[in-house]
Amino acid sequence: MITNTELEYKGNLYPNHIVDFKQDTNKLYFTTENGVVLEITVLRGSLIRFRYATNYVFEPDFSYAIDPEANLGYSKLEVIENDTEYIIETARVHVLVDKKSLRTQISDLEGHIINEDEIGFHWEENYEYGGNTVKMSKITQTGESFYGMGDKATHSNLKGKRVENWVTDQYAYGKDQDPLYKAIPFYTGLHKGKAYGIFFDNSFKTHFDFAHERRNTTSFWADGGDLNYYFFYGPEMSKVVSAYSNLTGTPELPPMWALGYHQSKWSYYPESNVKEIAKGFRDQNIPCDAIYLDIDYMDGFRCFTWDKKLFSDPKRMIKELEADGFKTVVMIDPGIKIDREYWIYREALEKGYFCRRGDGPLMTGKVWPGECNFPDFTDPDVREWWAELYKEFMSDLGVHAVWNDMNEPAVMEVPSKTAPLDTRHNYDGHPCTHRKAHNVYGMQMVRATYEGVKKYVYPNRPFVITRAAYAGTQRYSSTWTGDNVATWEHLWIANVQMQRMCMSGYSFVGSDIGGFAEQPNGELFARWVQLGIFHPFCRVHSSGDHGDQEPWSFGTEITDIVRKFIEIRYQLLPYLYTMFYKYSKEQRPMLQSLVLFDQEDVQTHFRTDEFIFGEQILVCPVQEPNAQGRRMYIPRGKWYDFWTDEVSEGGKERWVKADLDSIPIFIKEGAIIPKYPVQQYVGELEIKELILDTYFKLGTESSEVYEDAQDGYDYKKGRYSLRNFKLTGKEKSLTVQQFKSGTFVTEYETLKFNLHGLPFQIDKIEVDNEEVDLKSVKPNGSHSLFIDKNFTVLHITGK
Ligand code: GLC
Repeated sequence: MITNTELEYKGNLYPNHIVDFKQDTNKLYFTTENGVVLEITVLRGSLIRFRYATNYVFEPDFSYAIDPEANLGYSKLEVIENDTEYIIETARVHVLVDKKSLRTQISDLEGHIINEDEIGFHWEENYEYGGNTVKMSKITQTGESFYGMGDKATHSNLKGKRVENWVTDQYAYGKDQDPLYKAIPFYTGLHKGKAYGIFFDNSFKTHFDFAHERRNTTSFWADGGDLNYYFFYGPEMSKVVSAYSNLTGTPELPPMWALGYHQSKWSYYPESNVKEIAKGFRDQNIPCDAIYLDIDYMDGFRCFTWDKKLFSDPKRMIKELEADGFKTVVMIDPGIKIDREYWIYREALEKGYFCRRGDGPLMTGKVWPGECNFPDFTDPDVREWWAELYKEFMSDLGVHAVWNDMNEPAVMEVPSKTAPLDTRHNYDGHPCTHRKAHNVYGMQMVRATYEGVKKYVYPNRPFVITRAAYAGTQRYSSTWTGDNVATWEHLWIANVQMQRMCMSGYSFVGSDIGGFAEQPNGELFARWVQLGIFHPFCRVHSSGDHGDQEPWSFGTEITDIVRKFIEIRYQLLPYLYTMFYKYSKEQRPMLQSLVLFDQEDVQTHFRTDEFIFGEQILVCPVQEPNAQGRRMYIPRGKWYDFWTDEVSEGGKERWVKADLDSIPIFIKEGAIIPKYPVQQYVGELEIKELILDTYFKLGTESSEVYEDAQDGYDYKKGRYSLRNFKLTGKEKSLTVQQFKSGTFVTEYETLKFNLHGLPFQIDKIEVDNEEVDLKSVKPNGSHSLFIDKNFTVLHITGK
């Protein structure tokens, strides 16, 4: 136990006793004799905000992370005072505030301690920059595990680790390297079956120590700003993640093509090469929806320009690609080339839109085009200007989507890899230096991009990608995990990173499939595609300075495997789209690590490889060369092998066969998995029927299918179709009830039920209480039933 004297000795200051308490509706203020003010805000019964001021003064209350549309509201708030503490009671938790030390302790209504301060809030004054280094330390509870924190390339359970948040261009990063491209200061703690979350909303460099330095202490601190954190109580981890996602927001639905397979390289040029790649997909019958143009399409790497020698008529090219089912996605970087002949440079200079250094000079740094200046995207006027720059690209040329890169911002040839710390920023009217704005710079860039793209692709939906991100960036953009490497270790990293991002509120995420740096062999490429098709964003990208990385670059055996898996992704599009709908609307993470899926099973707490795609498909990639299968953990419950329909009883490890053309995939019993036929791109085929792979279960299970026009905003006016299926299986019967909502009329009339694992022979089929001729629903004696899409109850009885 650290004593206060030791703390003082180390230069730390800490609050002393409370001398004043005030309540202003849902805000409670506790002031100590030495000028610390703790503001506790009850936002929901299970969501409490803690903020500390020193010398009685808070920083202005402003955050880029919080979604203005977050659901807030509480039913109960009572404050009880006794000799030693204040007790704040909400409908879900009790918060104790100690009168002598300002330390807090949070427990559930049964009195189980969920989270408690060790030293609690303490700080060091920062003479050089002003303000404080603000710190919080908590007691690590027995058996506690920690998850989340964005893109950290380390074991999913963070116990025993120390990490830092400072968005960094980390080319060819390694396992355990930190920090990487994102700063998401949010984690979930889990102990004794109960989960809570902490979001430390502070954009300065932040640090987290999960029982690393001292076994019984978990702490977090920042180089400036307020100690300002949100506490979420579960006790379900899924609730914690959803509540955090609600507070910081989720994206609107993307156009469905954004969920297809995408092909990228640094760089495809000239036009003939782009066309050749596109043709390769159609010739080989490998589905693909988008093709990416990396920096070389630009004229000397000047943003919003084209190299007319390589792309003489971009508008025509984009149109021709579109006619063949390809969307064109182009890269835009933040650095603006210093070039008096370049109108964007001149305009930004004249308008004062570039960042300046402490004493006034422009902030200058080298990126692809050479010396650049950098727009201050934390200035709302700059964002508006930047958004307008997309008009020509999107409206006139027909570009479909935009990819923002290097927005940490990355600066070459300097040790810090980024802007100097004295660079000044507007920070939406709260002027500051780069120390505070660094972690949100890329976020504000992509926010501006999103606004522009959204405006100019209207009536279509925007699709944007970013590399750098702070908490909340998921509202604007999808993301990828940056410059990885074509190694087996990176396949492991990609798997952990995507699960971790999903647990950190950021589901629309993918890796550079196959690896960005270096060249994968065919086996690694195939294994990576097999994982990548289960990531919400699915794109092959590579640095292009080695061999090719198209699906057909590794010989026919690999091409066939890759095609087979990309086809699975296209078949699963309605399932994936429904996952996105649930993420967007209900804040449910699109991938679930096993601990998120079943936290009560302690076996799941240290698993890294297996995950649930959506809610009903269990996936486990093969992450080693020469494998014919692997050991894996199957979570509790019964699971159907996707390939063979063999049923496994979960709650144990087992070996699963998986030759190079297969990986372990299991379907939760009772699930109804919607599928489309294989298309070469979204919208290629008229969908004649919705396939419903129906997996028998003794008992009940619900499944949903969300559909709409796949683009545009009609769905916001109710023109969507949401089918909720309730499956009930008994020894000699199977019942499926359908509950429908929304006014969208799907183009198909028929549902095709493929029945898996039916334990009896069909005797009779009734649809909405009318017995139907078996031949009419099972033409030619097939194992499928064709039923009208508007049915309410399907009842099958067995012999
Ligand atoms: C960065 C990006 C990479 C891109 C390259 C060239 O390294 O992370 O994806 O290909 O820049 O633009």
